[in-house]
Amino acid sequence: MRMDAMPDAFLRYERGSLTLDGVALQSIALAAGTPAYVYSQRQILAQLGRLRAAFAPLAPAFHYSLKANANGHLVRLLVEAGCGCDAVSAGEVFMALRAGCAPERIVFAGVGKTAAEIREALARGVGWINIENADELDRVNRLAGESGRRARVALRLNPALQADTHRHIATGHEGAKFGIPLPEARALLARRDRYANLEIAGLHIHIGSQLGRPDESAAAARIALEVAAEFGLGHLNLGGGFPVAYEESAAVPVEDFAGALLPVLAGQGVGVAFEPGRYLVAEAGVLLAEVQYVKRGGRTVVLDAGMTDLIRPALYGARHPIWPLRQAEAGPEPVQVVGPICESTDVLHPGAALPALEPGDYVAVGVAGAYGMSMVSTYNGRPRPVEALVDGDRWRVIRRRETFEDLVRLETI
Ligand SMILES: Cc1ncc(COP(=O)(O)O)c(C=O)c1O
Repeated sequence: MRMDAMPDAFLRYERGSLTLDGVALQSIALAAGTPAYVYSQRQILAQLGRLRAAFAPLAPAFHYSLKANANGHLVRLLVEAGCGCDAVSAGEVFMALRAGCAPERIVFAGVGKTAAEIREALARGVGWINIENADELDRVNRLAGESGRRARVALRLNPALQADTHRHIATGHEGAKFGIPLPEARALLARRDRYANLEIAGLHIHIGSQLGRPDESAAAARIALEVAAEFGLGHLNLGGGFPVAYEESAAVPVEDFAGALLPVLAGQGVGVAFEPGRYLVAEAGVLLAEVQYVKRGGRTVVLDAGMTDLIRPALYGARHPIWPLRQAEAGPEPVQVVGPICESTDVLHPGAALPALEPGDYVAVGVAGAYGMSMVSTYNGRPRPVEALVDGDRWRVIRRRETFEDLVRLETI
């Protein structure tokens, strides 16, 4: 995303220095070190406000998808702002509860929930369990019986729709591992009275992330609505997927998604929920890194952050904008920006528009708040980065940088 295209310029240069909500990022880089993730609290809440405003006529529930960024401070912020949580493992259920989410406002999803995870979710009293296949329906029914509880569940439909997005994050097409094919879902619903320990009360559908076309979301919603009407189900969870702008993919405004979905859903008498992840936190986050070396006559810049810190470029071919913390005109040649990892795929940007940089300069990798820190690894013996939150004109560390000791802490001797 170009700097001048920032929604309300919460990131901008002031007196030649890149600021986030008015706080100089260089001061955070110097105090907290790099690599460092920095998030804007104001921007996260602004995104939630925009989503709410767009879908106001439906008054939907929003379950924040922890997989996008599970830092407890961010989860708590969104929970306190009224969100429930979408958790895809017992670990995420734990993290959602720890961040203050009421159990009944947690949706437990996930394509391969183990019996232990389901028992845990039942014991914690999660609000919904999304079911991905017939065996899982049996399993949850049995475990709910054993625990003496009735579980409220939604069937996740596979609508056989190929969403317009990167193939690695499309989930609703035929042959995808996600969801239950429509004929099978209908057959299960037709004999739902066999599941004595389940309240099969809703449907779930999520056709992908970073979605490119609202009409596909509307088509998925129409399918879910049709099945819900056939079986008298009162609740639709329409997943996440609202896009943000990266350099390689523009973002259809969320208002356009609302424009396509509202006519389908309004006045249908069903409760609606969404599970946004990326949309809430992506733009609000930057990854700060320090230039270590400049080679190939300035055409390659080596940072102290790489694919272990932000895997999206390597995994999805994503192109995140990169800005120098000290303002300067971009040079005539695109710059290859790489990390220090021993992998050829460790290229954060194949050709960024950057000024001439020197070792010791800092850069910010933009739109890094979602699927950044949550996908970090310690490969190559790299402690995980520090995370900081800017709140008004102040900032604070919300997760410390890992130490070398942290790298080996769990090994048994
Ligand atoms: C079932 C489900 N819900 C919600 C999400 C969150 O998606 P996004 O971050 O695109 O909003 C995902 C992401 O893959 C998902 O699989």
